[in-house]
Amino acid sequence: MLATLLLAWYDGHKRVLPFRGTKDPYRIWLSEIMLQQTRTETVGAYYERFLSLFPDVFALARAEEQAVLKAWEGLGYYSRARNLHKAAKVIAEDYQGIFPADLDLLRALPGVGDYTAAAVASIAFDLPAPAMDGNLTRVLSRVHGIRQDVGMPSVKRELLSLGQQDMPHQRCGDFNQALMDLGAMICTPGTPDCEKCPLRPLCNACAAGDAEDLPVKAAAKAPKEIKTGIAIVTCGARTLLMQRKEALLNGLWVFPMTEEGDTRADVEKRLKSLGIRARFRQKMGEARHVFTHRIWQMQVYHYIADEPQSREGQWADLKMIDALPLPTAVRAARAWACDLLTPRIAPAQKEELPALSAVYAASWQDSHQKHCSPAFVAEHTPLHMEMILRGHLDTGKTVHAIRCAGEIAGVTVLSPEKNELVSLYIHPLYQDGGLGKAAVAYAVNTLDERRDMRVTLLCDNEKARHIYSQAGFTHVQTIRVLNPDRDIREEDRIRKAKEEKTQ
Ligand code: ADE
Repeated sequence: MLATLLLAWYDGHKRVLPFRGTKDPYRIWLSEIMLQQTRTETVGAYYERFLSLFPDVFALARAEEQAVLKAWEGLGYYSRARNLHKAAKVIAEDYQGIFPADLDLLRALPGVGDYTAAAVASIAFDLPAPAMDGNLTRVLSRVHGIRQDVGMPSVKRELLSLGQQDMPHQRCGDFNQALMDLGAMICTPGTPDCEKCPLRPLCNACAAGDAEDLPVKAAAKAPKEIKTGIAIVTCGARTLLMQRKEALLNGLWVFPMTEEGDTRADVEKRLKSLGIRARFRQKMGEARHVFTHRIWQMQVYHYIADEPQSREGQWADLKMIDALPLPTAVRAARAWACDLLTPRIAPAQKEELPALSAVYAASWQDSHQKHCSPAFVAEHTPLHMEMILRGHLDTGKTVHAIRCAGEIAGVTVLSPEKNELVSLYIHPLYQDGGLGKAAVAYAVNTLDERRDMRVTLLCDNEKARHIYSQAGFTHVQTIRVLNPDRDIREEDRIRKAKEEKTQ
């Protein structure tokens, strides 16, 4: 009777969900694992993307764990992803890729509990197993008038047995999903819409008028608040990320952090223990993340390290931050770190010239030491470079500061008159982090695209050559430069032809 009413309602009212309409146990298992702690609306996009990356159980079994965690990024409860990966290996290796149509064998897979085993068994194989999630527990406790704590094992057993009695001989998967849909749309936790309920004629709680009070649940323990301090430590155009070894967020990447104290002193003690020497720059702000059993109340600080030293972790640039799996818990810190590492380029202020010159000198010396005598290189002191910059300003060129993580990271000089990128120097510490590319794009935007643009670079500077060629520059000629002390270096002149307007 219950199943007949329920399935008739389901046929007319079931939700259209991206993971429905398949009998493929891999897909059903994946969706059920995703749905365990996550709303159906959120799961859809993740489910599709996950399947495009790992279309079958063999693809998932072959994948790197980090790639699986990356695909899971943002869904939370990452042990689900790690177990999913382990279970895929079991299915691929022990079962030749074929999921067993057996409740006990399914339950033996990593990360598969009573609920998931029953959901997969019923939806994929039509086995009569009630999938006792929150929805089924609520609907069945109301229909059958169960007024004891549903957290008690004896009450759980009773509800399971009632579910088994209600289960039809066919369409077992639809029966479970119909109860889930009824629980999500009508027999909801707050105020159920009993008027619309197909099970109203049978419902004990509706007749008794206490549906809103069911199921009975013992009050959950409040999550414990933990004060944590997070250090965004930047070194050049990179920030330090550490892979978690703790059970919570195991394998995911976070910033160096304390889990017992959130002051600067606490954070600095932690940095010292990691072998990191860094100076405090500023407090970024605070953030909060609520897990099931705990809350991270985070104070986030920015530190600058002059050397990329640390006993553990990865110094990650913007691209790598994007490629690694970071949990939502550190979303605010991640956004601050990415903002800090995003290069900012603007015309230099007069008072910035000394700091710019120091960076200019360090970078110039680094790139020219292969080509020039030590004495000639040593002449290019910050003071010397400051004179050069002032000379540029006096002759109508423009000097621009490239900033990253709050520091001056490079300098570029443009000549509007000659439409030329006269100089572009990035401090060695800030190289390979996308600053060169950003500076070339800035120069191209600032110069006049209706005329040819020119730039000259040392001919062995392959990194720079690559960036320029990506921006549309091509080789014009190689020139030999005679240094005052008679060293010879070769430089390449390259050119970006004026934009051809086609219309
Ligand atoms: N929640 C978990 N599994 C579900 C399913 N198969 N249909 C609807 N909601 C669900």
